[in-house]
Amino acid sequence: MRIAIAGGTGTVGRHVTEHVRAAGHDIVVLSRVNGTDVLTGEGLAGALAGADAVIDVTNLATTLSAKKSKSFFETAAHHLLAAEEQAGVGHHVVLSIVGIDDIDTSYYAGKLAQERAVSAGPVPFTIARAGQFHEFAGQILGLVSGPFAPMPRTLMRPVAAREVAAHLVRVAEAGAAGRAPDLVGPRDETLADAARRQLAFDGIRRRVIDLRLPGAYGRGLASGSLRGGADALQGEITFDEWLRSADHTRP
Ligand SMILES: NC(=O)c1ccc[n+]([C@@H]2O[C@H](COP(=O)([O-])OP(=O)(O)OC[C@H]3O[C@@H](n4cnc5c(N)ncnc54)[C@H](OP(=O)(O)O)[C@@H]3O)[C@@H](O)[C@H]2O)c1
Repeated sequence: MRIAIAGGTGTVGRHVTEHVRAAGHDIVVLSRVNGTDVLTGEGLAGALAGADAVIDVTNLATTLSAKKSKSFFETAAHHLLAAEEQAGVGHHVVLSIVGIDDIDTSYYAGKLAQERAVSAGPVPFTIARAGQFHEFAGQILGLVSGPFAPMPRTLMRPVAAREVAAHLVRVAEAGAAGRAPDLVGPRDETLADAARRQLAFDGIRRRVIDLRLPGAYGRGLASGSLRGGADALQGEITFDEWLRSADHTRP
């Protein structure tokens, strides 16, 4: 197969690229450094020529704004799906997030809008949802520097981005299914506790503040719905195993 990876240079995208290559498929990476832009549509038509499937793992810079998130994910879906339809791509796979149905606000409003755009679009699709990556604590730690590290109170079941990537490649190979089984990690974690263990492992002295965010978003993060249901597939790599692995690079 020829598989295009939108966002193939990102946190999970790098692993998707590695897995697609290891599975022996032809590969096209879509990202701005490669001259393709999902927000303007630049370069997409040429890059998608001959592609059988697209895996969309693009993302915008971390935001709590529902408006910015919706604008990014709706625009990206619109441009990708239009170019895929023209190129005759037979399968659009999009990575979304487990347990966000009742948290239609802030960043998650954009992910739900992306799911709706893909479901209503012209290309056969699969929506694959995963839990927060083990890499997520580091992504949030990187947002603020200084002695304090505020972490939104979040109850989650994080999963290694490497395992999410392998799942996405299997989903792409299987053909359009509408919805794939959810994928979460092997253990419940709170974001604050994961961040504390990561800082200790990295030998960095910062004080983690477990901060309950206000409103529906804060309630949703803390509620435990992000852990998914009993029918979710489970990754094997625990957060602590991931910390000790080569996938975790110390800052
Ligand atoms: N982080 C989590 O815990 C988690 C959990 C479950 C699902 N997800 C979902 O996984 C997806 C990927 O997240 P991530 O953390 O891997 O993202 P990331 O590390 O921020 O990577 C984002 C990727 O998108 C590309 N990109 C951004 N703007 C673009 C544009 N205008 N045109 C083309 N490419 C663009 C970036 O490449 P360039 O900058 O080179 O353009 C990069 O390859 C997101 O949709 C997110 O919702 C994340």
